[in-house]
Amino acid sequence: MTALKPHLHLNSEMIMDAKYALLPGDPGRVPKIAERLEDSKQLAFNREYCTYIGKINGKSILVTSTGIGGPSTSIAVEELAQLGVNTYIRIGSTGAIQKRIGLRDVIITSGSVRLDGASVHYVPIEYPAVAHYQINNALLNASEELGIAAHVGVTVSSDTFYPGQERYDSHLGYVKRSLQGSMEEWQKLNALNYEMESATLLTMAGIFGHRAGCVLGVIVNRTEQEQIRSDIIKDAEENAINVAIGAIRKITSNE
Ligand code: URA
Repeated sequence: MTALKPHLHLNSEMIMDAKYALLPGDPGRVPKIAERLEDSKQLAFNREYCTYIGKINGKSILVTSTGIGGPSTSIAVEELAQLGVNTYIRIGSTGAIQKRIGLRDVIITSGSVRLDGASVHYVPIEYPAVAHYQINNALLNASEELGIAAHVGVTVSSDTFYPGQERYDSHLGYVKRSLQGSMEEWQKLNALNYEMESATLLTMAGIFGHRAGCVLGVIVNRTEQEQIRSDIIKDAEENAINVAIGAIRKITSNE
């Protein structure tokens, strides 16, 4: 038996040659996603990293939580890649910053603004964080089939939930000068939303020559309000999971 990876607590025997990983941030979401797979079971749970395995179309699929933000995501992607995974779909939640985007809609990230620190430890900031076209085609087709409104575009992926996303409902109630007005700037530059993990995932997958994509349920629209409602989180989460499961079904049926 090969050694367990230090954070995910997985080894290559446990993952049964899985090449595909679904990546929610929240460990609590992992069993909810895994119940959509055949024969799913928990493999490991260490710190923020919970992993289940199951099957779709006879292919082994992992569901692994990344925790919040770039540093913990980089560890999850790094150790999954070391184990042989090469296809990743992040399933997350997001705050929209364009008026036209509705609560509960999903955003399919075409590329991410790298406001994270982790991806810069791998590759210079000039390198783009882009989703793989096969993953995004599958995500978009799945959302259309399910009748879930989807928006494809650029995500601003920030290391922080408060200042990096220009939130003033924080302890200090102050955002440093260089980030003041940043939300309006991203709106004007046609970015769709804020979240916290896609820049790290997409950059790492890019430099590894792997495929990654990202589907995010809209839990708040920052052009209307700052308050996040728990009933909307549940619906938006469900929509993002349904789209991701539809996409992984399509991808695995062709391979
Ligand atoms: N996740 C984020 O990073 N920002 C939001 O506004 C909502 C979810």
